[in-house]
Amino acid sequence: MTWVKKEQFEIKEYVFNALQKNTNYIKEDVLGVPASYLDSRVFSQDDRILEDAPFLSTLVQNPNHIGCHTIGNSESFFKGTHEIEREVIAICAEDILQAEVNSYDGYIASGGTEANIQAIWIYRNFYLQEKDAKHHEIAIICSEDSHYSMDKAANLLNIGLYKIKTDNANLALLENSVENELDKALLAGKKYFIVIVNMMTTMFGSVDDYKVYVTALEKRDLPFKMHVDAAFGGFYYPFSNREYQLNFANKYISSVTLDAHKMAQAPYGTGIFLARKGLMNYSTTKEASYVAGEDSTLIGSRSGANAISIWMILSKYGPNGWMEKIFILQKRTDWLCQQLDTLNVDYFRNSHSNIVTIKSRFIPEVLAEKFGLVPDNHQNPNWYKIVVMDHVEIEKLEPFLKELKMFTEAP
Ligand SMILES: Cc1ncc(COP(=O)(O)O)c(C=O)c1O
Repeated sequence: MTWVKKEQFEIKEYVFNALQKNTNYIKEDVLGVPASYLDSRVFSQDDRILEDAPFLSTLVQNPNHIGCHTIGNSESFFKGTHEIEREVIAICAEDILQAEVNSYDGYIASGGTEANIQAIWIYRNFYLQEKDAKHHEIAIICSEDSHYSMDKAANLLNIGLYKIKTDNANLALLENSVENELDKALLAGKKYFIVIVNMMTTMFGSVDDYKVYVTALEKRDLPFKMHVDAAFGGFYYPFSNREYQLNFANKYISSVTLDAHKMAQAPYGTGIFLARKGLMNYSTTKEASYVAGEDSTLIGSRSGANAISIWMILSKYGPNGWMEKIFILQKRTDWLCQQLDTLNVDYFRNSHSNIVTIKSRFIPEVLAEKFGLVPDNHQNPNWYKIVVMDHVEIEKLEPFLKELKMFTEAP
C-alpha cells in the first residue's frame, strides 16, 4: 500500500524536502530555463507566512511539471516535486483503482475535460497507427448523460460520436439504444470504437453498467477501448461501493479520469489521468524536443503545486480517514432522501452517490435560485441537483426542506 496517513509535521517536512531537490534559482546558476520563482514584488515571499505553508511555498517556487513522469526522463530541474506527483499517481492507480504495481502511467491534468480528451486522443491514435484506421472510421460511444467533454473530444479529434439513451427513471443505459446506435455507426462506416463509461455522471451521479457495452460490442466482434470518466466519482464511489468494478482489476478498462478538484477539494487544475502501461506513447509529441523525456500529455507546462495539493490532502486523511469522510456524506445524503420521501418529492439518487437530482416540477424556480440548485439546462429545466459536498450540512439542508414542504403543502 502506497497510501498512508501522515501527521501535519511529516507532510510539511516531506514537501519541503522535495522542494529542496528542485532547482534553486537564487543559489544555483540556471540560465536556460524560461522560469523562475513568482515575482516577489507582487507575491509575498515573507518567511513568516511560508515557513509553515508547504502548498503556498510550492506555488511561490512554481515548479513546472510539464510531461508525464511515470515514463522515461523528466526535466531534472523539478525532480523533487515530480517524485511527489508519481506518488499521487501511485495512490490513485493502486490504492483507489486496484492497479498492479508498475502497470500504469498517469499525470495531473488540468481537469476532467483534459483527462477525457487525453484518453480519447490516445485511442484515436492507437487505431490510426495500429489498425491503419481513417478518422471517419473511429467513433466515441457514451451515454446521453456523459459530460460535454466527449462532444469537445469528437470535435477536436475529428471522429464520430454516438450517444446512448438512458432510462428516464433509473438512468441506466438502454440496451436497445446501444443496438440502435451501433447499427447507425456501422451504417456510417465506423469500425473502431472508444467507449466512455461513467462512474457518477455530472447531473445524476449515475454509474454505467460497462457490461451493456461489452456484450453489444463483443456480440458483433467490434474492436473497442474503454475509458472510465470518474471525474466526479473517482474520489467518492470506490469508497461508497466496495463492490465497484470500474477499475484496473477489470480487464476491459484501459484508462480512468478522476478529478481532485471536485470531491477531494483540491485547487482547480487538479485532474488526474491514468492509463495502463503502453498507451501513453500513442500521444507522445516527438517534436517536443526541448523537453527532457518529450511530452505525452495534452497540456504542456503545468504547475507542480497541484500535485502537491492532492498529495497533501490524501496524506492528511489516509485511506481510513477518506473512508470516514465519504461515510458521513453518504449518511447525510441518506437523510436528505428520507426527507424528500416524506414530502413525496420525486428524485433520482444512485444509492452510493451524494448527488440527489429532483424533478423540476417539485421545485419552484425561486427556491432553486435561493438555494443554488443546479438545473440540467438553464432554458427549460427538467431536473435540479443537490450535491452533498463537505459544506452541505444538515443545517444547510433543513431551511431548504422547510420551504419545500410549504410549497408541496400549498393548495
Ligand atoms: C463526469 C464529469 N466528467 C468531466 C467533467 C469535466 O471536468 P472539468 O470541469 O474539471 O474539466 C465533469 C465536470 O463537472 C464531470 O462531472
